[in-house]
Amino acid sequence: MNLSDLTATLEYWQTAGILSLSSDRLQFPPESRPSPIPGISSGNNDSPATQRQQPTHTPKPSPPPPPAPPPQPVTLTTAPLPPDLRREKLDTLARSLTDCTRCELARMRKHMVFGVGNIGAEVVFVGEGPGAEEDLRAEPFVGDAGKLLNKMIHAIPLQRHEVYIANVVKCRPPDNRNPLPPEIDQCQPFLFEQLETIRPKVIFALGRFAILCLTHHSGPIEKIRGKTPLWRGIPVIPSYHPAFYLRSPSRKKAAWEDLIRLKKILLF
Ligand code: URA
Repeated sequence: MNLSDLTATLEYWQTAGILSLSSDRLQFPPESRPSPIPGISSGNNDSPATQRQQPTHTPKPSPPPPPAPPPQPVTLTTAPLPPDLRREKLDTLARSLTDCTRCELARMRKHMVFGVGNIGAEVVFVGEGPGAEEDLRAEPFVGDAGKLLNKMIHAIPLQRHEVYIANVVKCRPPDNRNPLPPEIDQCQPFLFEQLETIRPKVIFALGRFAILCLTHHSGPIEKIRGKTPLWRGIPVIPSYHPAFYLRSPSRKKAAWEDLIRLKKILLF
């Protein structure tokens, strides 16, 4: 057991109230208090007898644990805005990002692709990042995946202009590669600002990067599909990316199942 395991164990014992148990159990004077678990104080697997013969051994410090992700707000962090101020806020945000150079994607993009649709929408579809066609036209989901997304929207049944569509990253990752963690870190606050401003009734997360950003789920999509995690209190429907269905048309049933769940929330 390493030092951080030991610390965690001791913290657990403290929170479990073990140090306040009566003296015939575990309450020892601090200087003679034994290690609560034999064998852990020296950082090795020696028996307690062996440990007592090596009192001068200094445990090697273990590397620090990875930093915990910052705590996420559980509810929306801003007050709702009236529609004209929503428009103004989103326009200002979009203008501020037009020449953004926060990450490497800026060097290769033709256009920053902010988002499109109804700023009072009840549903926001969130994708991964613009592709070649979107980069040229400065609009999300206008290529082949976009055509399929339009069909999905019509199935609810809604029109594209009635919903809002945005991406996790606003500039095209070259050669259709995945967005990298620093690119996502830089860009996701702007998606969150869009969502806070629009504050839809439900968010439809298309593919693993949208799911990761909105729910912190990083495992296989099938492990979270069918659940309804919340993003700042707003239900999120985790689903596959339309590009997945273009590659695997036989899996399209999943899209309709998720759209039915979306529809139920919209009708509720
Ligand atoms: N794929 C996405 O995730 N977003 C787009 O805008 C287009 C394709």
